[in-house]
Amino acid sequence: MSNCSFSSSDGGIRPIKYSNAVLSLIDQRRLPTEEVWLEYTDYQEVAEAIRSMVVRGAPAIGITAAYGAFFGARDIKAENHAGFVSEFNQVCEVLAGTRPTAINLCWALERMKSLVRANPDQPVGNLKIGLEYEAMAINEEDIRVNMSMGRHGAALLPDQVRILTHCNAGALATGGYGTALGVIRAAVAAGKQVAVFADETRPFLQGSRLTAWELQRDNIQTTLICDNMAGYLMSKGLIDAVIVGADRIAANGDVANKIGTYTVAVLAKEHNIPFYVAAPTSTIDLQISDGSQIPIEERDIREVTHVGEQQLAPSGISVLNPSFDVTPARLISAIITEHGAVKDNYTEQLTAFVRKGR
Ligand code: MRU
Repeated sequence: MSNCSFSSSDGGIRPIKYSNAVLSLIDQRRLPTEEVWLEYTDYQEVAEAIRSMVVRGAPAIGITAAYGAFFGARDIKAENHAGFVSEFNQVCEVLAGTRPTAINLCWALERMKSLVRANPDQPVGNLKIGLEYEAMAINEEDIRVNMSMGRHGAALLPDQVRILTHCNAGALATGGYGTALGVIRAAVAAGKQVAVFADETRPFLQGSRLTAWELQRDNIQTTLICDNMAGYLMSKGLIDAVIVGADRIAANGDVANKIGTYTVAVLAKEHNIPFYVAAPTSTIDLQISDGSQIPIEERDIREVTHVGEQQLAPSGISVLNPSFDVTPARLISAIITEHGAVKDNYTEQLTAFVRKGR
């Protein structure tokens, strides 16, 4: 464990670092009060880091899982291809089982597996080297993709804009720069006057702990609000646009994102405010035709009944804690990807973007 500083020269922190076969993750559970980095070299420990939210956010957990897959592959003893593949698939299964909603996790692992499939004649040693490079490529590409998405998204915004965002779809949720917050960073870089309202995002508080923290350290004007204040602000004409990220987008454009996103989308529709989703093509799941098929993670009820050690609800009370909800495509003004923004004909256009690759 070590405390580190980090650079924001290209917009936001990089929450995932890899050097000399050591993966370093900023422990997002301890932000904003402590900046602690944890180091990983073992795939089971990487899986636990994803499960326990040391790292979270769809693209970030995909990148982290890719490094975990490399660690798992590196430690496989089998020297023949078939033995290696069978053990490697088990490693990937453990990593894929950590969180069910964000498709980026499966996307990154599938990319690692397809490298192995595409090279049946390579010695196992070469496959291990290739997998390490692939994980690093997934990480670096993510930052490039976010910057491209940022430029496409910023072009949709007026020169003066007050933006509401929900959860954390920032540098912390990605390899760097962010998806929804990447659009905000790009708009600021383009000289637009941007003011952000960050929903605190109960129950895990990604908005107050993470979004507020990373925007403040980038000097982007940010005001924190409780989730139940969004409608009031909209009714007072204080919000010009909503931008959120996504954990999985179905072929028809339905979007799974942090619980409460759907509520914000309904409110935005009522107040005629554009509602944008910023997500890389790795978040699009063409296997799923609509949002009703997206698995929704149920998390520990303690997230609702407690804040840290402080109990907020009577013991034994019945509690629900779905971690995501689905916003139907009809409530979305545009889905912003690295290839451009899609405003209608979602199935056709999202399919074309996914086929284009990264
Ligand atoms: O439970 P989390 O914190 O992993 O949920 C994260 C979100 O819902 C984000 O909005 C989403 O992953 C997009 S991140 C670029």
